[in-house]
Amino acid sequence: MGEYVITGSKKLKGTITVNGSKNAVLPILAASLLNGSLSVLENCPDISDTKTAVEILQHIGCAVERENKTMIVNSSSACNTEIPTELVKKMRSSIIFTGPLLSRAKKVKLTYPGGCELGKRPIDIHLSAFKKMGVNITEENDIITFSCEKLKGCDIAFDFPSVGATENIILAAVLAEGVTNLSNCAREPEIADMCRYLVKAGAKIDGIGSSDITITGVKKLHPATHSIVPDRIEAGTYMIMTAAAGGKVLLKNTVSHHLKPLIEILSKMGCKIQLSTSSISIKAPSVLENVPFIQTLPYPGIPTDLQPQLTALSAVSKGMCRFDETIFESRTAHIGELLKLGADISLKSGTEFVVNGVTRLKGNEVFAKDLRGGAALITAGLCADGTTIIKNSCHVERGYENIVENLLNLGANITLKN
Ligand code: EPZ
Repeated sequence: MGEYVITGSKKLKGTITVNGSKNAVLPILAASLLNGSLSVLENCPDISDTKTAVEILQHIGCAVERENKTMIVNSSSACNTEIPTELVKKMRSSIIFTGPLLSRAKKVKLTYPGGCELGKRPIDIHLSAFKKMGVNITEENDIITFSCEKLKGCDIAFDFPSVGATENIILAAVLAEGVTNLSNCAREPEIADMCRYLVKAGAKIDGIGSSDITITGVKKLHPATHSIVPDRIEAGTYMIMTAAAGGKVLLKNTVSHHLKPLIEILSKMGCKIQLSTSSISIKAPSVLENVPFIQTLPYPGIPTDLQPQLTALSAVSKGMCRFDETIFESRTAHIGELLKLGADISLKSGTEFVVNGVTRLKGNEVFAKDLRGGAALITAGLCADGTTIIKNSCHVERGYENIVENLLNLGANITLKN
């Protein structure tokens, strides 16, 4: 388990190129099972979650090669229908392989993904939708077995716009018999990116990016090449880090309309933000002002995956901000660690807390508990006085490629000690 060592109060200055989206490449790697042939995926981030997804594909029987940022998947010999427990435990989003594997092999066996630092993470929405498509589901000692004669298109209204469930059912529907009408779908851009890959492979999908999606089952998909959409959460994280540490940074390979709510908040906090077709420039103010209220919502609202980083930013901004985390029931593990750095935050419930900004944080030893919480602690360390040690770097390495190199290039004083 590595640790980041940061000496704070260095302004950030320079340019970084944002990687392809972790939360798009994962469902698209799962989707590559469907065409039973070649998928060429460009702009793939080299992070531990992608490595885990590749291990799952190889375990299923696919051949996967990486050439720099491009991954080539050959799913012609995919046959294994069991996903190893150690891989599901490493990456709970492995559940996303259920839809495509059911489509290919009509059977899937995997361990219940289970909860994490963010909450219980149930999969009831996935399960009830699969049952509607004709899937038989049994559970024994934490192992779930899915089986079906065939997948049947049907009408499904999601109780909640779950990102994973929306992706899983689209993946089950593209080769199913008949038409599947989905309503109350999640609208995250990563889902639209997965759909664009599927359409390139011959799938028939209408309503991409909206909450009502219609998939008309086809007989077969063919090879496809696709470039992964830029990672809006990685981009947003670096924008927040720049705002907190001070300075001016240009982010390349971005889609600014995916970040509208964050751009609005950072502008209100005093940042100067300029947009161009594929880049975002952000200049931090000398004094940050808190906005009064931040509430996470399904896309296009403020993404829950930026809430921990915004909490760290709010902790060093003038005035108070009330946070309401509406997506996960306990995405607050980072708060205890921010308090160790001198932040003034009071928890009102598992999902609501109030931040009272302080002028300076003070370096200390803290623990990353999850991916975005770790990014929040790096954000805090960059602007804290003295040295901050952030343990359990493995959490951050799941979703941020070359974060130390990127921050060093921007002038930060950060090292990774293994
Ligand atoms: C995806 O997780 C992302 N992960 C998460 O990003 C992101 O935070 C989340 O969507 C919300 O945007 C990937 O894309 C790999 P959900 P997912 O199903 O699909 C409840 C990161 O940091 N729910 O939309 O698991 C669930 O408990 C990660 O990159 C049910 O109740 O999210 C949660 O409270 C963290 N039943 C809420 O819905 C279900 O069957 C949102 O979950 C499914 C979900």
